[in-house]
Amino acid sequence: MKRIVIFASGSGSNAENIHHYFSENDAIEISGFITNNKKAKVLERAKRLEIESAVFNRADFLEEAFLKHPLLKNIDLIVLAGFLWKVPDYLIAAYPNKIINIHPALLPKYGGKGMYGMNVHNAVVENKESETGITIHFVNKNYDEGAIIFQATTPVLKTDTPDDVVAKIHELEFEHFPKIIEKILLENE
Ligand code: GAR
Repeated sequence: MKRIVIFASGSGSNAENIHHYFSENDAIEISGFITNNKKAKVLERAKRLEIESAVFNRADFLEEAFLKHPLLKNIDLIVLAGFLWKVPDYLIAAYPNKIINIHPALLPKYGGKGMYGMNVHNAVVENKESETGITIHFVNKNYDEGAIIFQATTPVLKTDTPDDVVAKIHELEFEHFPKIIEKILLENE
């Protein structure tokens, strides 16, 4: 049995989609959804889906004792799905190549501090990009700079608003993120 934990700071639609994808899979289990934001919608989703969830604050996250968090017990992969805090060094060291993130753009473009969610899509539209996409990558000490595992692209039309781009990005995320997670878990067997 492989176990993953999902970190999310906001809505958690990716977290829910990943949960749905693995719900019939006896070999892969989600320990729960964990968030730094007590108002995050991902907590409502966890409740509705009847899965474990937890909230932590910055002090908890910066302490190495966080490694003993019940939702991190026997974890094979940490999945960041719309998680907005920088991952502390001790956590990266404890899970080498076992923390992955999804970014809603084609890194290295539109990455780095402050580049998340709508900020990314607003910038893509403002710069009249003809395409954008998603990047799934390993997490290292620098925001959005870990080795790239997978990218997928989608066209941006001249008439697309940032909200149109969000919809296209979510479609790509929902299609590919669970499959890439599954692939990584099977490769590490
Ligand atoms: C996703 O589009 C994800 O790629 C992005 O936040 C959104 C979360 O949506 N992540 C970042 O911007 C990280 N820098 P969700 O909460 O509905 O899954």
